[in-house]
Amino acid sequence: MSYLEIENLSAFYGKAQALTDISITVQPGEIVAVVGPNGAGKSTLLDSIMGLVKIDGDIRLRGHSLVGRTPSEIVRHGVGYAPERFNLFPYMSVRDNLMVGAFTARDDIQSNLSMVHSLFPRLEEREGQETSTQSGGERQMVSFGRALMTSPELLLVDEPTIGLAPKICHEIAEVLRKLNKEYGLTVVITEQNANFALSLASRIYVLESGRMQTSGTADELRNDKRLLEAYFGGH
Ligand SMILES: Nc1ncnc2c1ncn2[C@@H]1O[C@H](COP(=O)(O)OP(=O)(O)O)[C@@H](O)[C@H]1O
Ligand SMILES: [Mg+2]
Repeated sequence: MSYLEIENLSAFYGKAQALTDISITVQPGEIVAVVGPNGAGKSTLLDSIMGLVKIDGDIRLRGHSLVGRTPSEIVRHGVGYAPERFNLFPYMSVRDNLMVGAFTARDDIQSNLSMVHSLFPRLEEREGQETSTQSGGERQMVSFGRALMTSPELLLVDEPTIGLAPKICHEIAEVLRKLNKEYGLTVVITEQNANFALSLASRIYVLESGRMQTSGTADELRNDKRLLEAYFGGH
């Protein structure tokens, strides 16, 4: 039994099918990346795990099916989610945005907040600032922080580097490594940036047009032409 098992997953928006027959396994303590171009179905995949999309197939966490559970039940099962475009409350402070994530973790609020502040000292320095006035990188940090406030074992991050400068991407990679190695979190990210995914993840799944194209270890895929074709259309 794997830690996370996604089996023959299909996802639908009304009659439109966004994912077809996707199977993914994640072992405890792994960092896994799902890479694919815009529209491939990356956000839909993470939304499916969180119970936000209509699906066929099965998604199991530690052997227990998540299908039919509400998003807040899934959070309580230990799944933290930093979604695309962050979905922060723009006119609320950094601190209040973080506290939104604490609704499932009342006993752990102080220790979670300390962890978030030690990972992102800037969030403590600027805890009273409205997120609407922050940079993209800072908002990404608040989004991560909010997910960490839910006391996750499994962290899902949708396109952690989108729109961010290389220096910030580097910081984000360091934080994800630290969460994995020091805090023991299992991590699943999605990415359009294949190099970022290859540098961080032990295994990669390549998604295109809602279907799995290929998968393998980062070492196997580093020299795999199909990966590059999925990204750059063969150019
Ligand atoms: N809320 C929605 N309603 C209808 N179609 C959607 C919705 N969200 C995404 N889609 C469609 O599902 C497919 C996958 O989208 P998405 O998961 O957002 O891809 P990615 O995150 O890889 O860019 C696309 O064809 C997109 O147009
Ligand atoms: Mg997306």
